[in-house]
Amino acid sequence: MLQIREGSGPAAAIHRGDYTAPAYWIDTVDLSFDLDPAKTRVLNKMTLRRNPDVAAQPLRLDGEELNLARVLVNGQGTSFKMDGDQLVLENLPEGTEPFALEIFTTCAPVKNTKLMGLYVSNDSFFTQCEAEGFRRITYFLDRPDVMAMYTVTLRADKAKYPVLLSNGNLVDSGALDDGRHFAKWVDPHKKPSYLFALVAGLLVAREQRITSRAGKDHLLQVFVRPGDLDKTEHAMNSLMASVAWDEARFGLSLDLERFMIVATSDFNMGAMENKGLNIFNTKYVLANQATATDVDYANIESVVGHEYFHNWTGNRITCRDWFQLSLKEGLTVFRDQEFSQDLCAEPSARAVKRIEDVRVLRTAQFPEDAGPMAHPVRPDSYIEINNFYTVTIYEKGAEVVRMMQTLTSRAGFAKGMTLYFERFDGQAVTCDDFAQSIADANPDSALANLLPQFKRWYSQAGTPRVAARGEYDAAAQTYTLHFSQSCAPTSGQPAKQPYVIPILLGLVGSSSGQALSLHAQHGPGEASLNYLLVIAQEHASITFTHIQEEPVPSILRGFSAPVVLDFDYTDAQLLTLLANDPDPFNRWEAGQRLALRSAINCIATSEDPTRATPLNDAYIDAMRAVLRHPTLDAAFKELVLALPSETYIAEQLDVVDPQRIHAVREAMRLQLATALQADWEWAFSAHEHTGAYQPDPVSSGRRALAGMALNFLCLAATQTGDDIWPGKTLQRFKDASNMTDRFNALQALVSSGHALAAPALARFHALFKDEALVLDKWFALQAGTSDRGGQVLPAVRQLMAHPDFNLRNPNRARSVIFSYCSANPGGFHRTDAAGYVFWADRVIELDGINPQVAARLARALDRWKKLAEPYRSAAQAALQRVAAKADLSNDVREVVDRALAD
Ligand code: BES
Ligand code: ZN
Repeated sequence: MLQIREGSGPAAAIHRGDYTAPAYWIDTVDLSFDLDPAKTRVLNKMTLRRNPDVAAQPLRLDGEELNLARVLVNGQGTSFKMDGDQLVLENLPEGTEPFALEIFTTCAPVKNTKLMGLYVSNDSFFTQCEAEGFRRITYFLDRPDVMAMYTVTLRADKAKYPVLLSNGNLVDSGALDDGRHFAKWVDPHKKPSYLFALVAGLLVAREQRITSRAGKDHLLQVFVRPGDLDKTEHAMNSLMASVAWDEARFGLSLDLERFMIVATSDFNMGAMENKGLNIFNTKYVLANQATATDVDYANIESVVGHEYFHNWTGNRITCRDWFQLSLKEGLTVFRDQEFSQDLCAEPSARAVKRIEDVRVLRTAQFPEDAGPMAHPVRPDSYIEINNFYTVTIYEKGAEVVRMMQTLTSRAGFAKGMTLYFERFDGQAVTCDDFAQSIADANPDSALANLLPQFKRWYSQAGTPRVAARGEYDAAAQTYTLHFSQSCAPTSGQPAKQPYVIPILLGLVGSSSGQALSLHAQHGPGEASLNYLLVIAQEHASITFTHIQEEPVPSILRGFSAPVVLDFDYTDAQLLTLLANDPDPFNRWEAGQRLALRSAINCIATSEDPTRATPLNDAYIDAMRAVLRHPTLDAAFKELVLALPSETYIAEQLDVVDPQRIHAVREAMRLQLATALQADWEWAFSAHEHTGAYQPDPVSSGRRALAGMALNFLCLAATQTGDDIWPGKTLQRFKDASNMTDRFNALQALVSSGHALAAPALARFHALFKDEALVLDKWFALQAGTSDRGGQVLPAVRQLMAHPDFNLRNPNRARSVIFSYCSANPGGFHRTDAAGYVFWADRVIELDGINPQVAARLARALDRWKKLAEPYRSAAQAALQRVAAKADLSNDVREVVDRALAD
């Protein structure tokens, strides 16, 4: 791998094609830490040897913000030089015999605001090494294909840091002089440096002993600050469920005696899969019913699962280089999605989870794929790897893995996973190695037959479009579907080759509403209700016979491929699917298409969108029928009744006027509120009680629908002037026995702009002033609330001046700044450009503290070129002002330069 770093000059792009194996291997690492916030001493003793497959050359070790005190080779002083940040050793022993290298450095954890490497949070020490943070701890070959065995000794003040943790097993511990103590840890598995971790501090643990299917005993621990122990039960339950699921579904057992999770409130990301010592953002660990919502509970389950599943997909088999990131992340997101689905007792809950996952893909990944940061699932180059932990690598990567499963069957895919581990356990490999394993285990599958074409999903950026049309021949009783695929150019990829696209489809009778039996004209004899068509060319057709009534096609069931489907449905056809499609995904999708169509018409034609009534009676009646449906479950109803987001609507348009979109969507919300008022009253009373709190999908769905009902009832009250429902909502807010109900009530008051919102917000703050994660919700709600007349930006400025605001804490910064700039288009895109000015100021300010967080914020203006005037020019000016700063981080530089490039 090429690692060009030229001191403080502009960073060069790194190219996938330039990969070379490392010139040295590191077999063992023995690290000793004397932990001190201001000056931590790190002694790093390694054994290395030359890689015989690579031409002899100097050893170049990565380092960053380290103070180097001593370098010894085989116990003797040696000459060395610095080349930028790299430590270069030219006079190493010749030959391929192992030699010892000892490096002594110091660093300053308390000054580490980037939260990469070793840092201090709430007086405890934590590390974050992925992707390239280990070099901020010691000089090293900080690349994932160098896998070593680690021994770690931690020494620290015993009173301040009673708990000392690192990867693997605790082999020794005891007291030292001066009130200090030590702990020695040995990791029994070799690993790349990005999986190293240590934690030291005043922590307490929930513990659980388990016995695996294979009969082995393990200790599971969840470490938190004293006082948070009552919020660890759900994380522990999720961890136990994860261990059991990976054994049951993939035959993968826990390979450690001890598995630890530690929570920290200062963390750039969600969580990190360090071997045996996962480090989590508190947001994805801590929950009890008083402080966490149903969504928090579900997120904790899936993040705990995700990091645990990395133990095999990521840690046992890791990435050869960072271009292969989706090898571990896409695969592990797929696994955590499957885990959450498999934990659902009801089939409808599985469908709800699938819809939620697709919603994330379409509102976040599709825009990325159409914008300046578009990149393939396996990128070809990057400047800053931290910018490539994207929804494309994660969510689109997971869809690519899901398509492999669709093309090989669930059992076939599991066989492929087994072959992957047989071939590559303990190695650092590529996306090609993975795809080849799945195909080789399923030699007769469509995946194996089409593997080179299928792998275009890894190499081509952009979202493919599939255009479909249908022809019914009533006399012949045949129905033919014609498909054609295309993909728009992306930067550096002007022409795309056809993709392999699995299209799961069915037919619904347009008059009977029945699912029709499918006999493919040239296909297998048996009829079925679902048909999997795999298209691999630009054009494809399929004819079904014995079709006795004109059908409505239900195409791309379960969202069987990450594409945009263009089919010219009539409203009547969509209403048929909404009422009858046995596929819950397409049933939901039909409602979304109808709402989207109304929104787009109104945006294009309305003279005054604030007074428009975009929704027609047929849509409103259909929504009433769904809401009152006797058998559909509440969570599914809530999804159907939720309008497409402003971001999703914007993606369908070539030129975006965010205020027009906002006005039209608000008008639609108001229509649903008033036209269905009696139905919302019924829905609230039918779902308001959910019994003793349980975060399961069924009762969560009931709470979600009750919350939605309150929201619409408070909104309707803004029209009628009747205070009954706002009053009831305030009472529910006060009486609620769980955070979901309480927060939904608060949100209903705030988003309708009712006068009761202010006292409720004040009361909420007073109740939860010592609960950081709840205060994050309080900040986020206000910064993300629906704009009416520009009130949100001044409120955001006030929130930033609040004594509880802290720009250095990523969760708090996100709760205010990201909730406004990235999640509140109606508030952010102002005709006076003040939102963009605020954004530019915050990007610059944050970049001096934490470039990773700043670069994520910088992406809020990715799609500026689609904006209508005056937004477009104002956004460009804001981007240019950021880009003109001389000392930007590589992180922010890459994002704004790409945004401004043609
Ligand atoms: N390996 C990542 C954590 C990570 C990401 C570290 C980027 C450093 C840089 C971890 O497995 C992960 O993917 N975490 C996600 C949550 C997950 C459930 C998708 C995260 O942190 O957002
Ligand atoms: Zn991950």
